Formats: sequence, structure tokens, C-alpha cells
Amino acid sequence: MDILIKLSVIALLCGTRGLCQYEGYDYDTSYGSEPNDPYHPPFQFPQSLDYSDQAIIYTNDCARECFCPPGLIMYCDNRKLKSIPQIPSRIQQLYLQFNDIEAVTMKSFINATSLKAINLSHNKLKSNKVEGGAFAKLRKLEQIFMHHNDLVEIPSDLPSSVERLSFAFNKIVRINDRDLQGLVKLTMLDLCNNHIDNVKSKTLNKLARLMQLNMCNNKLHSMPASLPLSLMYLSIENNSISDIPEDYFTKLPNLLAIRMSHNNLEDIPTKVFNLPNLVELNLGHNKLQQAFFIPRSLQHLYIQDNELESLNMTIMCPKIDHFNTNRLTYIRVDQNKLKAPLSTFAYLCFPNMQRIYYGEQKHAEGETPKVQEPMLTHPLVSEEDDREGIPEYRHQEYGVDYNVNDYSY
Ligand SMILES: *[C@@H]1O[C@H](CO)[C@@H](O)[C@H](O)[C@H]1NC(C)=O
Ligand SMILES: *[C@@H]1O[C@H](CO)[C@@H](O)[C@H](O)[C@H]1NC(C)=O
Ligand SMILES: *[C@@H]1O[C@H](CO)[C@@H](O)[C@H](O)[C@H]1NC(C)=O
Ligand SMILES: *[C@@H]1O[C@H](CO)[C@@H](O)[C@H](O)[C@H]1NC(C)=O
Repeated sequence: MDILIKLSVIALLCGTRGLCQYEGYDYDTSYGSEPNDPYHPPFQFPQSLDYSDQAIIYTNDCARECFCPPGLIMYCDNRKLKSIPQIPSRIQQLYLQFNDIEAVTMKSFINATSLKAINLSHNKLKSNKVEGGAFAKLRKLEQIFMHHNDLVEIPSDLPSSVERLSFAFNKIVRINDRDLQGLVKLTMLDLCNNHIDNVKSKTLNKLARLMQLNMCNNKLHSMPASLPLSLMYLSIENNSISDIPEDYFTKLPNLLAIRMSHNNLEDIPTKVFNLPNLVELNLGHNKLQQAFFIPRSLQHLYIQDNELESLNMTIMCPKIDHFNTNRLTYIRVDQNKLKAPLSTFAYLCFPNMQRIYYGEQKHAEGETPKVQEPMLTHPLVSEEDDREGIPEYRHQEYGVDYNVNDYSY
């Protein structure tokens, strides 16, 4: 019994099975790989560039301010440029980051019809100086990177070929109905670090291939409306969202990861995350007082720094299906108000559990903090476990009359 209870405290082993890596935020590389800077998703230019005419050396058509090595790339980054230089029509990748460019006009890309990717990040782009339709004729354009500029709106009339768009670190206040129209190939939209306070428009719903939406560090007070069915990664950390409508996620069955840490969630419908494919759920740094249903597919759950006083297993795991076990392997619950480590029932319900990070819990004023000793432990309940080794345990604490020994592993 004691051993079972102490199983709940794990801190030191975090590294051994690589679970700590999920602390990092990075939707852009393949799921679960090394974390990168969350607000800086790596910009990937298309790999499959057409190099058939690479052997031909063009030099005389390159703008004076820039550098064009033989091939299809033009480097104009870090040159204090105030405007976009002339771009030869063969160029496919254009690096314009770290300049002082404020304007994009209809003329800017007039000849640059081969462009597949433009990096305009870290400039001074102003919405009133970005002409509507400036990008419209670039029919091969797949990626536009405009993070760290002064945009207050999403530029209009982007070409329908666009797959990845980054507008992080601007001053965008809203998504208008006409924005992002016809972008049926868009898979990634990064709007983190802007001033968006709500998404009411139905415009996102029409992005039929959108897989990843990042809206972290904005001013959202409610869940964004009308997200498309295709969505797999949703990042809305650090907004001011206080609730989630009960049926909100029922229209988003493809979601693999939801990141909502640093919001104001207090009460959420118990079954709101009942999603068939959800693998990662981060609700850390909210105000949750109640546990909620854990879908079978979920592997990593972050609920640290909330107001949880207990983790009601009847709610988290209403029934156990031994042929279809819950996949949860990692849960982080530190900085709550838990009075006791997780019930042993947790390991029965979540037989794949590898780590529970219990850490320190918040304590009332005047109380001395109870530091839980990190323990080297091993979840008892696994496929290989000797059934004889599992002590008989009647689980009554949660209103379930539950006899461990009735279950086969
Ligand atoms: C576009 O190409 C034409 C013809 O080569 C040239 O005269 C013009 O200056 C170019 N404009 C820009 C903005 O590159
Ligand atoms: C685009 O510019 C940003 C700097 O703002 C840089 O981090 C990124 O690597 C650039 N992308 C490529 C493919 O060079
Ligand atoms: C939350 O977002 C604000 C900007 O809206 C930013 O200043 C702050 O650093 C962010 N906090 C966290 C924890 O990311
Ligand atoms: C757990 O939740 C169930 C269902 O809401 C409730 O009946 C039960 O009293 C709760 N148990 C505890 C210990 O809070």
C-alpha cells in the first residue's frame, strides 16, 4: 500500500525516458522531437526546389544591395534596406529579414513570379503601406514569413498557393472576414504575440487544410470560433480565456494537441476533452478546481499550477476497459493544492503511466510547505507484473467499489 502511494512522487527520473522534452513547445518539427523556441517556429523553405538551371550563373541581374549566388536564392538580409530591391524572375527564395522595410507595393514582386518563399521577418512593415494584392500574382508562393513587424492587419489577397504563414510578433488586432480568403492550401498559421481579442469571423473555417493554428500570447477572452475540421495542433496559451463551451471540440476530432496554459480556465465541462485522437493536453497555469475526463488517446497531461485539491478518478476515468487501455504515460500536477498523492487507482486506470510529476503543492498562508521527497519508483501495474504482487485493494474513496484482483493484466 505504502509503496503504491509513494509511486506518485517523481522528479528525478524525468530525464531518463525523455519525458521532459514535452516541456518544450514546438509544433513545427515532428511531434515530440527536441523543443525549440515556442514563439519562433522554424521556418522551413521548401526542400524540393527546382535546381534544373542551377548551372547557369546569373550575376548581373542581382540587385546591387543583395547577394545572389548561382541558383535560386537571393540574400538581402541584414542590410538596412528601406525598400524591397528588384528581384530577378528566377529567384525562388528571398531573404529580406532584418532590414527597415516598411512597404510592400504592387511593384515590389512584379517580376518575381517564381518565388516560393519570402522571409520578411524583423522589418518595419506597416499595414497601411502593404498594398492589397502585393502578393496576389505570386502563384508559386508557399511560405511568407513576416514575424516581428508592425502589422495591424493580415495582408489581403494572399495567393491561394500559400501553405505556411507567420505573422507572429506584430500588432494585429483582429482577423477580418475578408482575411485569408481562398487559402485552401494553408497548413500552418502563426499569429502568436499579437493583440487579437476575439475570433468571431468564420474565416478560419474555410481553411480546409489548416493543421496548425498558433495564437499564443494574444488577448483572447473566448475560444476562437469556427475552427476547421482539419486542425491538429491548437496553441492558445497565455490568453484570457475563462471557459470552453461544452461541445466546442466535438467539431475538431482530428486534434492531436491542445495547448492552453496561462489562461483563466476555472470551470470546464467535465467531458469537454473527449476527443478520439488527442495526445497532448496542456492546461497548466490556469485556475482549475475540478478534474475532467481523460480521453483514451491522451499521453501527456499538464495541469500544474491550478487550484486542484484532489484528482477525482471517478471523473477522470469513469470506467476501465482492459482491452482498450488508457494511453496516459505522463502527468504533471505540481503547484496545485493536492492534499495527497494520486490514488493508487490512477495506476489501474492508466496502466501505461510512467511518470507522475507531483512536485511541490501550494500551501495555505502560515502553513509550512510540505516538500514531497522525489522518489525512485516504478509503476507496479504493467503487463509483466506478477499478479501475486499486487496487494488487494478495495477502492472506496471515490465511490467505486473496486477490487483490483478482479482484473487481469
Ligand atoms: C521588371 O522587369 C522589367 C523588364 O525586365 C524591368 O524593366 C523592371 O524594372 C522590372 N521591375 C522590377 C520592380 O523588378
Ligand atoms: C527567416 O528569418 C528569421 C529571422 O527573423 C530566421 O530566424 C529564419 O531562420 C529565416 N529563415 C530562413 C529559412 O532562413
Ligand atoms: C503572455 O503574453 C504577454 C503578451 O500578451 C507577454 O508579455 C507575456 O510575457 C506572456 N507570458 C508568458 C508566461 O508567456
Ligand atoms: C468524484 O466525482 C463524483 C462524480 O461527480 C462524485 O460523485 C464524487 O463524490 C466525487 N468524489 C470525491 C472524492 O470528490
